[in-house]
Amino acid sequence: MTDLIGTLPGMVKSSLESEENKLPVVETRDEFDVEISGTIGKPLVQNAKMSSRNCDVFYGDKQAIFNINLDIGKNEIIAMIGPSGCGKSTYLRVLNRMNDTIPICRVTGEHTLDGEDIYAAEQDPVLLRARVGMVFQKPNPFPKSIYDNVAYGAKLHGLATNRSELDDLVEASLIKAGLFKEVKDDLLMPGTGLSGGQQQRLCIARAIAVDPEVILMDEPTSALDPIATATIEELMDELKENYTIAIVTHSMQQAARVSQRTAYFHLGKLVEVNDTNTVFTNPEHKLTENYITGRFG
Ligand SMILES: Nc1ncnc2c1ncn2[C@@H]1O[C@H](COP(=O)(O)OP(=O)(O)O)[C@@H](O)[C@H]1O
Ligand SMILES: [Mg+2]
Repeated sequence: MTDLIGTLPGMVKSSLESEENKLPVVETRDEFDVEISGTIGKPLVQNAKMSSRNCDVFYGDKQAIFNINLDIGKNEIIAMIGPSGCGKSTYLRVLNRMNDTIPICRVTGEHTLDGEDIYAAEQDPVLLRARVGMVFQKPNPFPKSIYDNVAYGAKLHGLATNRSELDDLVEASLIKAGLFKEVKDDLLMPGTGLSGGQQQRLCIARAIAVDPEVILMDEPTSALDPIATATIEELMDELKENYTIAIVTHSMQQAARVSQRTAYFHLGKLVEVNDTNTVFTNPEHKLTENYITGRFG
């Protein structure tokens, strides 16, 4: 494939070329048998935080995910891209058992967090979702104050023993989510009164407050304007120091800017996983190439 980068939209190209955003390359493993899943590239890593093996997902009789095998590295940001309906959200929900809340949905395969089976009978999905937090496309603050939105999970999980500890935790979470300065005098105002971008940062603060290890983000900026989007992307850059992040995005520029590896999904299959630069400049699979060059989507 010759000089694919020349054909990329300018913003994606400049994101890839920008020096300030360079993240360390994730150490991957080679012994993967591509025959098993058909995924090409580097779906497995040396230092996995979460892993899936032989993952199928069904809604009733309809299969939505076909044999996904993937590792997500510790402190990695992995982007998940692909056409609408290809199973990105479904797969993300496998990782914190949100599919359990959809009665017709059935998940198979083995899924681990630090090597622990997250679907084991003794796993409490509520505790799992504190360890593997989620931020949705549409900001969904609770109909409560800004303070209570952030304090909610911490209270539920008994993370603060008194009011002053809770105050500190709320403040620290809002600071990490880049929202504190804007709301510090309005903590008792309803979370739903904030702007869209602020609401999304409030939801990130809420997820962070319970001290998660992994944060799943499902198109977290697609309902936001470019300025709010830039703020969230900067925030992700800071969050990657402490968390493992999987982000579903429709924006190639966003994937190129924030992620170390990119996973390309197509019709429920994981077609290709590679370091982000490779996916955007030298994809191995024709389907990946077609998508990133805008031939369909
Ligand atoms: N709650 C649901 N009930 C039935 N089918 C669903 C449900 N959610 C998703 N699907 C189906 O699963 C497939 C993958 O959807 P989804 O994971 O939402 O894709 P993406 O996030 O990539 O757009 C689609 O065919 C979609 O119609
Ligand atoms: Mg989706």
